[in-house]
Amino acid sequence: MQYEFITCESAYQSHIALVRLNRPKELNALNLQLMQELKHALQTLDNNEDVRCIIITGNEKAFAAGADIKQMESRTAIDMLIIDQFETWDQIRKTKKPVIAAVSGFCLGGGCELAMTCDMIIASESAKFGQPEIKIGIMPGAGGTQRLTRAVGKALAMEMVLTGKFISAEEAWQAGLVNRVVPEEVYLEEAVKLANEVAQQSPVAIRLAKESVLKAFDSGLQEGLYFERKNFYMCFASEDQKEGMNAFVEKRKPNFKGK
Ligand code: CAA
Repeated sequence: MQYEFITCESAYQSHIALVRLNRPKELNALNLQLMQELKHALQTLDNNEDVRCIIITGNEKAFAAGADIKQMESRTAIDMLIIDQFETWDQIRKTKKPVIAAVSGFCLGGGCELAMTCDMIIASESAKFGQPEIKIGIMPGAGGTQRLTRAVGKALAMEMVLTGKFISAEEAWQAGLVNRVVPEEVYLEEAVKLANEVAQQSPVAIRLAKESVLKAFDSGLQEGLYFERKNFYMCFASEDQKEGMNAFVEKRKPNFKGK
């Protein structure tokens, strides 16, 4: 598939893939085609054995300023139902490999929802997070009311969703929305560093661990604990577990193969 609104580079030696949202004039507003391209790229990378961690980024000015308002402006409720644009977004959640959002500048509406659907967020000092849909007469529709509330708690989520106010990278860090805040010049480098750390681990254990952490969002504690335990035991079916523990005993670096 030829991409028009994203670019995709893979550094297989380090097992990392970088997907860049690329509609800079529109502040990376997420139109239907861009989201189809992103879905395709994520599916392809998820199926590529050489890739162990995926980074999604934008540019310094914008990660993404939301779903494309111009594309949605004249739609009716029935158009929205039939197009069901958020169905495409489900792929981000379904991606089995870890996905890191490297965020700088505007990260708003659907952009913030996209970042929150990723597994970790590295923010540049210039990042601004918000769910400003209320200002255009709508509300978040791609997980914002649920994921933001779980990430930052009811008080701040309610204020952001009901007033549309933006929060700074520093506030986002204090509220637990992002992993860390770094100077704009190095936010992508920092995301690559984090991706490298993840990519060095056993891909089998990483997959099971990611799945287990995500389970915490859609199950009660007891169900989540059983799920985690099953995945923990499952790790022992992998060669990587033998290799990892053997390397520890032999005081050497493990060589994980994802088997
Ligand atoms: N959709 C479509 N176009 C957008 C856009 C969006 N979400 N955000 C920015 N753009 C376009 C602008 O229309 C403008 O295009 P033109 O040059 O053709 O006029 C261009 O990007 C640059 O934007 P601005 O001139 O507005 O830049 P600014 O620096 O003055 O302001 C901003 C930046 C505060 C982010 C402002 O652009 C803005 O408020 N954007 C909309 C943010 C928003 O409401 N997002 C939520 C969208 S709805 C949604 O996401 C629903 C959901 O749950 C998925």
